[in-house]
Amino acid sequence: MRITSTFQADDGHEYEILPDPLGAGAQGAVKRGRRTADDCPVAIKRITDGAGRGPEANRELQIALKLHQQDSQHLLAPLSWAVDDADLLLVIPLAERSLAAELASHQNGLAEDALLPVLRDITCGLVELHAAGIVHRDLKPANVLFYDSRWCVADFGISRDLDVRTGTVTFQGHGTVSYVAPERWRGQPSTHKSDLYALGCIAYELATGHTVFAGDRDMQRHHHLHTPPPAAPVGSTLARWVSRLLDKDPARRPQDPAAALAALPRAPAPTGRLAAAAWQAQQARNEQAAIQGLAMTAAEAAAAERRQALADLIDLCASVDERARRDVPDLRWDDHGDIQRFSVDDARLEFILWRTTHNRDGLTLVGEVSTVGHGARRCAANIVCERSGDRLQWFLDTVARNAISGIVEEPAGFAEEAEFFTHYDHFQQGGMHAWERQRQVLTVAAVLDLLGDLLEAS
Ligand SMILES: Nc1ncnc2c1ncn2[C@@H]1O[C@H](COP(=O)(O)OP(=O)(O)O)[C@@H](O)[C@H]1O
Ligand SMILES: [Mg+2]
Repeated sequence: MRITSTFQADDGHEYEILPDPLGAGAQGAVKRGRRTADDCPVAIKRITDGAGRGPEANRELQIALKLHQQDSQHLLAPLSWAVDDADLLLVIPLAERSLAAELASHQNGLAEDALLPVLRDITCGLVELHAAGIVHRDLKPANVLFYDSRWCVADFGISRDLDVRTGTVTFQGHGTVSYVAPERWRGQPSTHKSDLYALGCIAYELATGHTVFAGDRDMQRHHHLHTPPPAAPVGSTLARWVSRLLDKDPARRPQDPAAALAALPRAPAPTGRLAAAAWQAQQARNEQAAIQGLAMTAAEAAAAERRQALADLIDLCASVDERARRDVPDLRWDDHGDIQRFSVDDARLEFILWRTTHNRDGLTLVGEVSTVGHGARRCAANIVCERSGDRLQWFLDTVARNAISGIVEEPAGFAEEAEFFTHYDHFQQGGMHAWERQRQVLTVAAVLDLLGDLLEAS
């Protein structure tokens, strides 16, 4: 029997469906509704034939039940559900408007100050989804809703829960193709990196009022696969953030939503708990990917990891360039891939990556940090990118002979690869030897210090 207007949902409450339509999507219609006991406004999404295989089979409902176990601030998931004939009704908190509606009323996009908080909200939503091990797969302005004074990611209709084996649904027929990442056009599965690409598309659209690429499906396909995205007309830091999200190569996008959030201008870093949870989920995701046969071959994974590490290093150098140039207008940064060079007059600071296959598990890229001043070259440190779990981290290592050896020297790096690896193995094994290693995380501040030392000496 088809419900006319009121029904009892799984949470024990009675709801009434009102005639006002809120929207229509791929799966059915969304209408305004209310909880009869207290008049609390809700949205009610009818999924045509959604109850056929049992409500539990509905992906959006499964994901909602999972999300309710976690405290998420930037996700808008169904509260409850009911079955109506063959249809499934999802009861969702009522949002004020969608980001698609917001964009429709800003034909030329939003000012940078106004769009940053929107991007922060959506990125937080992705961090929370990532923490739950869920890939959204359909992130676009119509699926971002304003609720309780913030933008929330909604519509988990084609999301995939990485903890549950579910068949792959292709994106064909699922609305617009303006937000579909290159790897998906190539027929590869969506990952968190594809959600990050969609976030880049949304960021571009918020800044300009139009999508990154225009045209019909075939043209969009061509552009997403081959056309370098135009730069977003925003400040350089945000423009770089957007262009990194829009990289054709998933391995060169930020590592995960938490990394994207940390890199967003003026956005606060994720709270420790969320970030930790996101990384944990990432590890679970890897295991799942392996089970589902989505894992890359070891060689492909190692190559992707090196591209990720290099992209992270270049991004860091770009930030250094941006920061240092305020104080040192003559500073020049040259990005030659394996060689990253900062120069001021004759003084140079270089990161030179070695391409040796060292076959050490967990070690992604290694190189030397050289300074050149008054014509003399000195190896000041080594840079080392290591994997811990599924995260890559760059370190700045210096060594000095320790007190046992009785020789006091300025901390330095190893300019010889063979020497570096011999000592690296010693340090990994622990125990006593004549060298002591000082390790710090390679940050913008650490590189600015190196530059400062160099300029002071020259
Ligand atoms: N909770 C809600 N509050 C207000 N409007 C909503 C709500 N959920 C959906 N809508 C409107 O309905 C549209 C389609 O809903 P969505 O959940 O994205 O369904 P579909 O899976 O069919 O795309 C949204 O873009 C939005 O405009
Ligand atoms: Mg939708």
